[in-house]
Amino acid sequence: MEKTLLIIKPDAINRGMMGNIITRIEHKGLIIAGIKMELLKPEKLKKHYAQHEGKSFFDELIKYMSSIPSVLLLIEGREAIAVMRKLVGATDGIRAEPGTIRGDYSLSTQNNLIHASESAEAAQKEIALFFSKDEIYKYKKMGLEWIYSSNENK
Ligand code: CMP
Repeated sequence: MEKTLLIIKPDAINRGMMGNIITRIEHKGLIIAGIKMELLKPEKLKKHYAQHEGKSFFDELIKYMSSIPSVLLLIEGREAIAVMRKLVGATDGIRAEPGTIRGDYSLSTQNNLIHASESAEAAQKEIALFFSKDEIYKYKKMGLEWIYSSNENK
């Protein structure tokens, strides 16, 4: 099963959407293998968002992301990276499709509620940056036989 990293961002926390977002992830059938709240420090955020360094929105992005705590999730499931990117929707809430988290609740490019790793390589790096080994749980979740067929649940 694939793993991906999510950040429920400060705007989602301030707007009382943390529960709603987590519920959507659970209802999709994905497994939460790690979850914690953390006030993200600028130094860590600069590493996480290194590919955007130098862009016009970078400083504002770091300020917003370090303003209040975020909720970090390690999510597991079949093709979890692609599944979460679809659930999250396009970066700009205005362009994101209705039915996606951003499409339903965001009108902003920056304040877009949630981050999801964009590739397997990014997921691996991001999980290592935000979760230590003892914060990652491997457990047998009941009911997976109703989420996947026996061929898929491997
Ligand atoms: P995220 O998916 O976390 O990845 C990078 C983040 O930078 C993005 O969500 C937005 O929060 C922010 N971002 C990306 N593009 C822009 C932009 N053009 N203007 C402002 N913020 C942006």
